[in-house]
Amino acid sequence: MSSQDQHKGLAIVTGASRGIGAEYAQRLASRGYPLLLVGRDKTRLQQVSEHISRDHHVKVIIECLDLSIVGAAHQLFALAQKSKTPVDILINNAGFGMYGTFSDMPMTRIREMLQLHITTVVESTRLFLPTMIERRSGAIINVASVAGFLPIPYMAEYAATKAFLISFSEALAEEVRESGVTIQTCCPGSTETNFHNTAGYRPTNPLGSQTAQEVVQASLTGLDKHRSRITVGWQGWLSDRFLRFLPRTLLIQMVGKQVKPRTRD
Ligand SMILES: NC(=O)c1ccc[n+]([C@@H]2O[C@H](COP(=O)([O-])OP(=O)(O)OC[C@H]3O[C@@H](n4cnc5c(N)ncnc54)[C@H](OP(=O)(O)O)[C@@H]3O)[C@@H](O)[C@H]2O)c1
Repeated sequence: MSSQDQHKGLAIVTGASRGIGAEYAQRLASRGYPLLLVGRDKTRLQQVSEHISRDHHVKVIIECLDLSIVGAAHQLFALAQKSKTPVDILINNAGFGMYGTFSDMPMTRIREMLQLHITTVVESTRLFLPTMIERRSGAIINVASVAGFLPIPYMAEYAATKAFLISFSEALAEEVRESGVTIQTCCPGSTETNFHNTAGYRPTNPLGSQTAQEVVQASLTGLDKHRSRITVGWQGWLSDRFLRFLPRTLLIQMVGKQVKPRTRD
């Protein structure tokens, strides 16, 4: 462990086995944070950990945990307590996309998404936040999406869970504004990760896509400035500013037409 670790509390990253989460882990390691990395894929978590350990002298704990099961937040909290290191940063990043007609979606998968994107994040925040407030320092980053800016047909529950996260996180950010704790909602646009393979949908986004590096750079630079809402690049800025001014019904119809599964035409 380097001398840097002794001054930093733990940074927890959920969904750290790949994509945006793995990039958060790398960047936080380069800032000297000891890490608790969580996901379900042990091999990938080990790879991320080995990669970090090659470049940085920080302690890395990896834990396999399915965050879509009831009680997962309490398990995460217990793991953090076991490390006996105060938690400086919690990044609720784990998530997945789901694409198709809602009435055909498997109920188990819907429940998994609600649990992972909403219940586990809310419970984790409730568990970790009080100590941060007591210590008058710390940060929680909830990774939402530009998909949370508007209802998206054929990705209805995904967009709705991300809208929940935005509303929840921004309200909390105001509650804790003078407490020394930062709550950030990170809203990436379409990002080049495995996300679209899992979702079974690759958007033809006229605004193009971003890299995980760009997302995390924007998020952590925003964290340094205690910013509560992060979008990425000019595309994110544009979506955030303009979507709210367009007539909502028309917008949903347009998005629905673009996203609609082709086989149903
Ligand atoms: N990529 C995009 O276009 C995009 C855009 C906006 C927002 N986002 C958001 O960014 C976050 C990260 O996504 P990504 O793009 O990095 O996708 P990704 O490459 O598919 O990574 C998803 C991560 O979430 C973890 N995960 C999924 N289900 C989990 C569960 N039940 N328990 C624990 N971990 C779980 C996965 O780990 P295991 O496989 O090891 O479980 C993986 O590490 C998500 O919240 C996503 O909604 C992505």
